[in-house]
Amino acid sequence: MSDLVVSGMRPTGSLHMGHYVGVIENWLDLQKKYPCYFFLADWHALTSNYQKVEVIKQSRYEYVKGWIASGIDAEKCVVYNQSAISEVLNLSQLFLCLTPPGWAERSPSWKDLKTNPDKVHDNLGFFTYPVLQSADISIMNGKFVPVGEDQVAHVELSRDIVKKFNRLYRGKLKEPEAILTKVSRLVGTDGDSKMSSSKKNAITLRETKKSLQKKVNKMVTDMKRMGINDAGNPDNCSVFSYHKIFSPNETVVEVDSGCRKAQLGCGECKAKLGGFLKEKFIPIAEKMNAISDADVDDILSSGNKRAKELAGRTWDEVQTSIKFL
Ligand code: TRP
Ligand code: SF4
Repeated sequence: MSDLVVSGMRPTGSLHMGHYVGVIENWLDLQKKYPCYFFLADWHALTSNYQKVEVIKQSRYEYVKGWIASGIDAEKCVVYNQSAISEVLNLSQLFLCLTPPGWAERSPSWKDLKTNPDKVHDNLGFFTYPVLQSADISIMNGKFVPVGEDQVAHVELSRDIVKKFNRLYRGKLKEPEAILTKVSRLVGTDGDSKMSSSKKNAITLRETKKSLQKKVNKMVTDMKRMGINDAGNPDNCSVFSYHKIFSPNETVVEVDSGCRKAQLGCGECKAKLGGFLKEKFIPIAEKMNAISDADVDDILSSGNKRAKELAGRTWDEVQTSIKFL
């Protein structure tokens, strides 16, 4: 069987531009090259949102709408919901038994939690989610896993678990590989290092022209630049980091020199950026509006069926190797 791509997103709020450049753009590219399995990681979402289950329920619809509106082809790709595939949890339980606690402790998201007391991911589900993630990949016998930098360690963990499984039980699961996203992180509009719906620094895929420009106008710029007549340093400006991602090259060059020579004001610079963002994202917002919840139900019910078929076959093979059940 040919090599598959497997990737999931945690449905925990609104979809934003950080998701777009960090994940969706990569998916759009990969769907042209490989069979792809894209899923709602709703069990993962529960590890951080178990007190806000409603959010997960609504976000499932929102995420699928955003994927489709961005250009994910649900006929070609299998778009499904993790919790509809019970085999994932079977494999996850088996993988848990192959994972020494130290492997999970090395996860960057767990380390981050330990040093960041604000986080509420205070449960074993969160601690072990990298193991569940390995099961997500291996239950589809996936090979390529598009992820951002912060998730590379989890794909490495997946490889270690798969190697151990294959060695112990003479299994034939594929060792997954990370495919790094070009832009794996988008700064927030407040200049924070990461855009995130919970930090209120996100530009969502649902903005109108007006709300989008308003958010751009509020973006944090080079703090040392006092007025239009002072030279600025674009390298210290979040607006410029967006230009580098979303604007054509000539605009990036123009902004860079205009800012340094005090020939370009921040207002104009933001208007330019807003223009390119609107060109790209307003059509997506309009398409999202045109997709109904019932459309999403259809997409998921067919995707879940296709995903379940493959997961069932992989699980049978796992059984044949381990001879446990
Ligand atoms: N843990 C990933 C994240 O937080 C989401 C995810 C869950 C995932 N399972 C996956 C990504 C399997 C790739 C493959 O972004
Ligand atoms: Fe930032 Fe543009 Fe203002 Fe320079 S001109 S500080 S790049 S917003």
